[in-house]
Amino acid sequence: MVPILDRAIVKLLPAVPRPVVQRLSARYIAGTTLDDAARVVRRLNDKGKLATVDVLGEEITRADEARAIAGQYHDALARFDTDALDANVSVKLTALGLELDLDLCRQNLESVVVDAAARGRFVRIDMEDSSTTDRTLALYRELRQSGHENVGVVLQAYLRRTIRDLDGLENVRLCKGIYVEPPDLAYREYEAVRANFVLCLEALVAQGSYVAIATHDEHLIREALRVVGDAHLPRDRYEFQMLLGVRPDRADSLVAAGHKLRVYVPYGTHWYEYSVRRLQENPTFARYVAGDVLRRVLRR
Ligand code: FDA
Repeated sequence: MVPILDRAIVKLLPAVPRPVVQRLSARYIAGTTLDDAARVVRRLNDKGKLATVDVLGEEITRADEARAIAGQYHDALARFDTDALDANVSVKLTALGLELDLDLCRQNLESVVVDAAARGRFVRIDMEDSSTTDRTLALYRELRQSGHENVGVVLQAYLRRTIRDLDGLENVRLCKGIYVEPPDLAYREYEAVRANFVLCLEALVAQGSYVAIATHDEHLIREALRVVGDAHLPRDRYEFQMLLGVRPDRADSLVAAGHKLRVYVPYGTHWYEYSVRRLQENPTFARYVAGDVLRRVLRR
């Protein structure tokens, strides 16, 4: 939960110059190049953590940019092989052209999924705002129905529809959800989102889905441990997931306890939108900004 002072500062974020946003959000992003991402994944792998690499690109506006993002995914998949990295990819359909042309997006997505399959890798389709939910689930189902088993999707516990959407889905990352949604579509209260997360997790486990439990919320991590424990779920049927730069110590302790743990590693030149979302979620954002300002003053 983001405290009031932090929320007030968060509202000012759009007025913050981009270089400042970039500096403040550096911990959440591997860097701008594939080399940066590969270096971060190597460091995570060395600590027993898996990775899912996201090529940042949701701000793209042209078909050639969407094709270029798909090309960067191919490069990343090839790099995982040459560097023997334990990593998958996460894709945002808007970065692959969803808002430009559905067929273009489908082609880009399928090419990444086919390439990943040939290399024994997995593709997770991130979930964006609710205007994309139907199209995202439809593309996921199309791929599964045409025999691609190396693909999974994301569901958001804040959406009221999620408890129905999860029916029959084979491989799901469950998260709270980060976009601003109207109250008729989404639970707004912190405890209601938590409660729906647990309900959806229980339903996913009960129907035998592979679940990726994506949260840093201690209450939900404990609830998830209870749910997978009660169901005697084998450790290869679920994993925890966290974002780069958030609660790395808690991630270490989950690894030490023998759970699979995957870190979301974004990289690329389109870093702005992602960075703003992460800063908005940092519960100590005001102190974080104040600390940054103070450090710069002291350096002068
Ligand atoms: P919450 O926001 O309550 O945070 C719990 C605690 O975690 C905080 O109290 C704090 O200690 C720490 N924390 C969280 N964010 C922090 C930050 N930025 N900086 C510092 N500390 C922080 N959403 C979506 O809509 N579609 C998607 O596809 C995905 N994909 C995804 C993948 C993975 C691997 C993760 C972990 C998350 C996502 N999300 C997402 C984002 C998700 O919906 C949610 O917005 C964030 O995970 C924050 O929610 P928490 O469950 O961590 O709880």
